[in-house]
Amino acid sequence: MRDLQNIVILTGAGVSAESGVATFRGPGGLWEGHRVEDVCTPEALLRQPELVHRFYDERRAGVSGVQPNPAHQALARLDTEWPGALMLVTQNVDDLHERAGSTRMLHMHGELMSALCASCGTRTRWEAALPPGTSCTSCHAPALRPDIVFFGEMPYHMDAIEAALANADLFVSIGTSGAVYPAAGFVRTAKHHGAQTLELNLDPSDGSIWFDESRMGPAGTLVPAWVAEVLGG
Ligand code: APR
Repeated sequence: MRDLQNIVILTGAGVSAESGVATFRGPGGLWEGHRVEDVCTPEALLRQPELVHRFYDERRAGVSGVQPNPAHQALARLDTEWPGALMLVTQNVDDLHERAGSTRMLHMHGELMSALCASCGTRTRWEAALPPGTSCTSCHAPALRPDIVFFGEMPYHMDAIEAALANADLFVSIGTSGAVYPAAGFVRTAKHHGAQTLELNLDPSDGSIWFDESRMGPAGTLVPAWVAEVLGG
């Protein structure tokens, strides 16, 4: 096995579950009777802006009231202490990784605490409700929308992520069902470039067969143990 230098980590909703943030495909998995896939689309934003903005207002308010859990804290410890290259790619739009202290990270599906101007592209930190028609602080067009990557839109930072996967010695997937691409394909890309692959998840995921090793259990327990293993204590 190559020396362990470069680590790429992918997290999904399962890493925030023990903080009390609902996962997408857990029991029920609906919001106000809508499938999430039907609310998080450019068409829904056009046709029912009130519904889509309310969906994210509720999630933004919900996340403001919860705290990072031991999984987020352990990943922040790794961020601080790992001497090699480290990229944490999260599918989550909450800010729990940042609040735990992670810095070497990217949000590939956007961020709840950010508003995007559909007119000029300016991003503004946003912690309150964001009604449709809110004016951009830069160009003043009434065009602020949640800074979220909707189904059918291209995830953010894909070039940087693909480059990191091509150089990874270890790829670790934490708390994701492996149901949504392109994130679900990262394990195969990393494996193709010779990385070791590890999955830490509550249940087997759609991509479990691609991992060299899968450890089943809650992230709040598995992640601190794995980080201690990697850091030698
Ligand atoms: N610890 C570890 N894993 C957990 C925990 C936990 N405490 N609780 C749940 N899980 C696992 C579940 O077993 C499941 O595999 O987390 C995963 C959550 O899967 P999803 O709800 O599908 O969330 P995610 O994989 O992040 O969804 C990917 O889909 O809806 C889109 O854009 C949205 O980013 C999201 C993407």
